[in-house]
Amino acid sequence: MKKVFVNGYGSIGSRITAFLKDDPQIQVVGIGKYSPDDKVELALSRGLNVFVPEKKLDDFKDFEISGTIESALDNCDLVIDAAPGGHGYSNKKNLYEPKNLMAIYQGGETTVGDKAVSDLLFNSRANYDQSIGKKHVMQGSCNVTGMGRILEPLRENFGKKIIRFDVTLVRRWADIEQTEKKITDTIEMTEKPHHGDDVKTYFGKDSPLFVRAIKVPTRQMHLHIMDIRFQETAPKPSDIHDIFANEFGVVTLWTAKGTKDVRDYAGTMGFNFTDTNMIHIHANMTASIGDTVQIMYSDDQTGIVIPENHMLMQSMLFGKSYQESFSHTESIFHMKEKKQKLEEHFS
Ligand SMILES: NC(=O)c1ccc[n+]([C@@H]2O[C@H](COP(=O)([O-])OP(=O)(O)OC[C@H]3O[C@@H](n4cnc5c(N)ncnc54)[C@H](OP(=O)(O)O)[C@@H]3O)[C@@H](O)[C@H]2O)c1
Repeated sequence: MKKVFVNGYGSIGSRITAFLKDDPQIQVVGIGKYSPDDKVELALSRGLNVFVPEKKLDDFKDFEISGTIESALDNCDLVIDAAPGGHGYSNKKNLYEPKNLMAIYQGGETTVGDKAVSDLLFNSRANYDQSIGKKHVMQGSCNVTGMGRILEPLRENFGKKIIRFDVTLVRRWADIEQTEKKITDTIEMTEKPHHGDDVKTYFGKDSPLFVRAIKVPTRQMHLHIMDIRFQETAPKPSDIHDIFANEFGVVTLWTAKGTKDVRDYAGTMGFNFTDTNMIHIHANMTASIGDTVQIMYSDDQTGIVIPENHMLMQSMLFGKSYQESFSHTESIFHMKEKKQKLEEHFS
């Protein structure tokens, strides 16, 4: 059994920890907290050991904490960093590298420039094998992971027949449980979004992918609007949908009116954290016009990267093959069953 520490207990850290606790091959050493707030009690009530930075010990004197993050890291095989974007890099330099520890970083970090946490941005669909034997790997962000689940199968099926992908990311403002984050009534434009460059680290730096992004006042998932331009007449919508029939983490829905319908259904069905852990092609919106296919899919911002972290962790800790990791992840996340339920409900 391998020991894993999760540094950070926000939207991503809390989800990763919940699934790791169901994994018989993993012992969760504990989680790292930085603010003495309600989430400390929440973590304790879930049976987790809570560790805090050495210099903040005094701030947590009213809580039953288990020790310092620094000491917890001495007692684990791998750390999953779930810090706010940018802090993963400082953690790497100050904590993980000095302790010669394997680490997974999240999508708010970068793989280029001075502050790169790794030279690999992981997407299980695209580059699983490259992560075997690595010590530091970054998991792509939710949008980057979602785009990979669409782009890779399209490329495999149509190859050079596709000449261009144009994607508009309509990004959610905050996560459901981030109640402290105020939602502002505006549509915010994102200059130079990182998502296209991130995808190109595995899709190819010269790939004809053009991404722009806006942020809208919702907590209910991201929506990607993608135009796929073909050399000649574009395939029919049904040809596109067929490609995704057996894809891991992709569902095809016909009757969801909006992203909240999908999230609400996940809640009704008791899916963990009301996450689907997937992207959802809104098939009723697919159109084929001349040389272009238009598609829209929503991206479960919080859930989609959790099974990815789980697969990456297995590759780094155990050197498992893609198929071995995939099967074990499936036994914990039950993605096939969730896919079937979602597709039946929104048929
Ligand atoms: N939210 C999403 O939908 C989403 C999706 C994909 C990827 N990501 C990426 O995942 C990462 C975490 O995002 P999040 O949404 O989970 O953030 P979050 O909800 O704001 O949680 C961040 C957590 O990190 C803790 N923290 C603060 N300083 C830290 C440090 N120096 N080292 C380690 N942990 C620290 C915070 O502790 P305290 O609360 O105790 O201060 C909090 O528990 C980011 O890189 C983000 O881009 C987020």
